[in-house]
Amino acid sequence: MRVGERYAALVASGQLRPDPEQAAAAARLDRLQAELDHPAPAIGLIGRMLARKPAPAPRGVYLWGSVGRGKSMLMDLFHDNLTITAKRRVHFHEFMLDVHARLHEARKTQSGDPIAPVAAALAATARVLAFDEMVVNNSADAMIMSRLFTALIERHGVVIVTTSNRAPSQLYLNGLNREHFLPFIALIEDRLDVLGLNGPTDYRMDRMQGLDTWHTPIGDAATAAVREAFFRLTDFPPEDSANVPSATLDVGGGRTLFVPKSLKGVAVFSFKRLCVEPRGAPDYLAIARKYHTVFVVAIPRLGPDRRNETMRFITLIDALYERKVKLIVTAAAEPAALYDTSHGGDDEGRFAFDRTVSRLMEMQSRDYLALGHGQV
Ligand SMILES: Nc1ncnc2c1ncn2[C@@H]1O[C@H](COP(=O)(O)OP(=O)(O)OP(=O)(O)O)[C@@H](O)[C@H]1O
Ligand SMILES: [Mg+2]
Repeated sequence: MRVGERYAALVASGQLRPDPEQAAAAARLDRLQAELDHPAPAIGLIGRMLARKPAPAPRGVYLWGSVGRGKSMLMDLFHDNLTITAKRRVHFHEFMLDVHARLHEARKTQSGDPIAPVAAALAATARVLAFDEMVVNNSADAMIMSRLFTALIERHGVVIVTTSNRAPSQLYLNGLNREHFLPFIALIEDRLDVLGLNGPTDYRMDRMQGLDTWHTPIGDAATAAVREAFFRLTDFPPEDSANVPSATLDVGGGRTLFVPKSLKGVAVFSFKRLCVEPRGAPDYLAIARKYHTVFVVAIPRLGPDRRNETMRFITLIDALYERKVKLIVTAAAEPAALYDTSHGGDDEGRFAFDRTVSRLMEMQSRDYLALGHGQV
């Protein structure tokens, strides 16, 4: 189906509220989909002989705006409905990690500029690259982006579709050596259509409205509440709950993490999987980068008798908090009562946990819930 049609159907059925800026973006993406899925017919032998070079690749799209405006939703509709298979949708941060790893490999095996072969390899598998959450906050990325993207777009005709919380001219603002980054901004403004999604409604906040995030005690009522929250946030039909997709997350160092439920930037884990099994900071950072909302079910009482689990939980909350990830849980107790010292004192652990309690309280606040994913 075409993305424009699909968007209109979601509005007509009441799953999405009408929004003029979204409709304009959907129309633009629809045009791009048509250009990609049904390229202009061949112009015949004479035409081909007369044409100096092949038709230019379609223009990409840069969607930007503040949180919860539907940027990721629209990009996913576009990507999911594209019939071409040479497409890749990836979180921008993950993409850049992949690029750095490829550059590192390329430098080992060849002497020249590694950007060109890496761009060629990326272009060989994807005519369309769809990035979620383009943000630039380190000079290592900033230094290579303009050369990499110039090669992708101008040499290989790769079409870029991306979302960001910032307009192109505001990327990497005040960053170190920003002058090396300016050609990237110029390239984006020249080769992509830049569309703002800055309507008055934060739809994610709307969906969180009235949702409690901390459910206690563990039991049927708490489980029912988080189930409802999950379906409300993802728009997945509850009667189809057996078919919620899972995912395998690459956490670096050749390791992966299984995500039992993974949909539209929302993940569900058990406490056991995250904090009883031997997991650590790289796992939690990978989760925090990829998901804007994380459910953790069945958090038991913590304390000195569960030292390892407690330390992992603290690390997990730090990672989620740092990236402004929304947290929804079922737990044995409210945050302030979660750390149980009745089995003997451990001031060190209690002290470390106090900061976590404070963060957990803040993470339930309206202000925290209104922040964008990854916003600093
Ligand atoms: N028109 C709409 N009506 C109802 N819900 C919507 C509408 N547009 C988006 N949503 C929902 O609002 C939530 C937030 O949308 P989305 O994740 O696409 O926002 P975003 O712009 O990518 O935000 P962020 O910058 O934080 O990543 C999603 O659950 C999405 O399905
Ligand atoms: Mg988004």
